[in-house]
Amino acid sequence: MIEKKPRRFLLSKWTKTKALLTSDEVKPFIPDTRRFSKPTLKKMLELYKMVYVKPEVGTYGKGVMRVQRLNAGAYKYQTGTTERTFGDYESFHNSIRSITGKKSYLIQKGIHLLKYNKRRFDIRVMVQLSPKREWETTGLIGRVAHPGKIVTNYHSGGTPMDVKPLLTAHLSGSDMNKVIHRLTKLGVSTAKHLHKKYPGIRQIGLDVGFDDSWTPWIIEVNTNPDPFIFNKLKDKSMYRKVMRYRRAAGKH
Ligand SMILES: Nc1ncnc2c1ncn2[C@@H]1O[C@H](COP(=O)(O)OP(=O)(O)O)[C@@H](O)[C@H]1O
Ligand SMILES: [Mg+2]
Repeated sequence: MIEKKPRRFLLSKWTKTKALLTSDEVKPFIPDTRRFSKPTLKKMLELYKMVYVKPEVGTYGKGVMRVQRLNAGAYKYQTGTTERTFGDYESFHNSIRSITGKKSYLIQKGIHLLKYNKRRFDIRVMVQLSPKREWETTGLIGRVAHPGKIVTNYHSGGTPMDVKPLLTAHLSGSDMNKVIHRLTKLGVSTAKHLHKKYPGIRQIGLDVGFDDSWTPWIIEVNTNPDPFIFNKLKDKSMYRKVMRYRRAAGKH
């Protein structure tokens, strides 16, 4: 008999979001996310004024749009460094559809990401199965968006950096430690929960964004997170641990 191997990677952001919403611990940190449709976009823009539209399956920040409803019924979106403004919903929607084509897209409540030197940032939380087969947060790294861009991904011009200067630009030392502790715990609870449903997963990378409320919003969870980003930090201790755990997981 041929046994089916459990899935190691989950590609659909929709599948992952639905799985995370079944955890009482993780659910409060998942921004409202729905499948793209013309009426849903209109409704979510009424609710949140600013949303992100992104491919259901995608990486590197490709195809991600930041969309806003302006006062007086005008609309605006930005993708890459291009911004476009429209006076009515029809022409705005047509323009967005010319980008999405027939591909499946999601709409997510927009988080007004905190900034560092006027650039948006979020934090990648790396969580891995340890050689003892326990979930552990092994790395935290900040990602600062290219000025004028709306995504923080390294492959879209973002700059990886130590989380400490990013957080201390906004917080005292003891509050920073609280945030780091919270992220470390949130990473492990997210991994444990996903692993229950998808036992093939060996590591996850959470993209966590903060707004003024300091809610750790889970923007997305990657099941094949890039370990090499940690090699961009001067201090190589996280990078070495991340690589060590990867090698150990690969042997199983
Ligand atoms: N809802 C959102 N609010 C604020 N920023 C977002 C939101 N969704 C995505 N972003 C920004 O865009 C980046 C890429 O989006 P993400 O969902 O992680 O897709 P990808 O798989 O391309 O990395 C995020 O790291 C974040 O900087
Ligand atoms: Mg991402």
